[in-house]
Amino acid sequence: MNTQFNSNDLTAVVEADRAHLWHHLMQHKALDGTDPRIIVEGRGMRVWDATGKEHIDAVSGGVWTVNVGYGRESIANAVRDQLVQMNFFANSAGSIPGSIFAGKLIDKMPGMSRVYYTNSGSEANEKAFKMVRQIAHKRYGGKKHKILFRERDYHGSTIGTMSAGGQPERNAQYGPYTPGFVQVPHCLEYRNQYDDASDYGIRAADAIEEVILREGPDTVGGLCLEPVTAGGGVITPPEGYWERVQEICKKYDILLHIDEVVCGIGRTGTWFGYQNYGIKPDFVTMAKGVASGYAAIACMVTTEEVFEMFKSDDTDPMNYFRDISTFGGCTAGPAAAIENMRIIEDEGLLDNTLKMGDRLMNNLHALMDKHKIIGDVRGKGLFVGAELVTDRTTKEPAPEKQVGAVVADCMAQGIVIGATNRSLPGFNNTLCLSPALIATADDIDQISDGIDKALTRVFG
Ligand SMILES: Cc1ncc(COP(=O)(O)O)c(C=O)c1O
Repeated sequence: MNTQFNSNDLTAVVEADRAHLWHHLMQHKALDGTDPRIIVEGRGMRVWDATGKEHIDAVSGGVWTVNVGYGRESIANAVRDQLVQMNFFANSAGSIPGSIFAGKLIDKMPGMSRVYYTNSGSEANEKAFKMVRQIAHKRYGGKKHKILFRERDYHGSTIGTMSAGGQPERNAQYGPYTPGFVQVPHCLEYRNQYDDASDYGIRAADAIEEVILREGPDTVGGLCLEPVTAGGGVITPPEGYWERVQEICKKYDILLHIDEVVCGIGRTGTWFGYQNYGIKPDFVTMAKGVASGYAAIACMVTTEEVFEMFKSDDTDPMNYFRDISTFGGCTAGPAAAIENMRIIEDEGLLDNTLKMGDRLMNNLHALMDKHKIIGDVRGKGLFVGAELVTDRTTKEPAPEKQVGAVVADCMAQGIVIGATNRSLPGFNNTLCLSPALIATADDIDQISDGIDKALTRVFG
């Protein structure tokens, strides 16, 4: 095999991919008759594949990650400079970018105080789970160890985080799972599951309390929720939900863990999704947008109160967080994250996210008038979903195959969009959009025009 990279002839790259790469989330039979898609270059909102075709990326790298867009030389330079000076040392020691980014991050998170570096969203969530468990052992003889998670939420791909996975199709065939994780009902008002809900937000939160009472409040240590559910169908919380959730956590002394792996660092138009709802979390985890994919970095952030629990008694040799993440000591992540944050501030990208998010929502609402197949449009900032239904009265979900056909049609037009897939049996029917925070009005219109055309072609 020719290992020399030749950007004008990618035949060898395609061959090597076909022969040796195992792609994520892919049934590889699909590649029997076609070449694997290889993305070669990115600039701003656009990427080019190995055939030279240009695409506008409405999902920030496929999985809502590249918040500041592609081709940011200043981030690349910051990472390069840092790597040459000092690339890695285990995080039992500090680093210059690690300390600086921790300070900058905490400035954006009033009430929070300590940053623990890891290398993926799953791993950041595992750290919070481990802390809940260790606190249970330290304070409650191990009893208050259960962790609640919500139907439709996703927290990662490890067995531990899948134990907190609310998406049955993602979880199928990988069990058995870790004991001590308990599901609470979803809060998608469009799919109101309560006959008696005059106030859906309160009812959906009260359902959490019902689970706590059923399990026994003295057994429940943590509640892990996405601020806006991402892969489970872009579920924005109903009115009053979060206030009530916070009350419930306080009432039963349950640590509130907000999974900001998708929403964190600007996606919803605030630094963090939870900041839209006035919540005071005990743990916040983040990953994708922290360095926009320019380097791997994830963080588990907690309060001084939690931190103190692991510090208070140094006569006990077990009284500290006995955990390590090797790549949590990489300096490329925080170096990239510092520059990523500077870009968001200097370019006013939070404001832009709000403005462009409104535009995207308005465009999709306008499409609702034209396409009966759109049953619901929901979102926050540049994080928007459109649920497709074959009948607006019965809300019968559109078949996953046809939803996939809309995504494929957009791709053929050079527009990358996403959809819930193989996550929720019968409910993989939501188109997902999360363009970079730099999106312009023209970009947003191009994306919604493409969806309009695709819906017409697939559904008539
Ligand atoms: C809400 C949420 N949490 C956690 C994760 C897991 O992150 P990672 O893939 O970096 O492990 C994801 C990934 O999509 C996610 O959407």
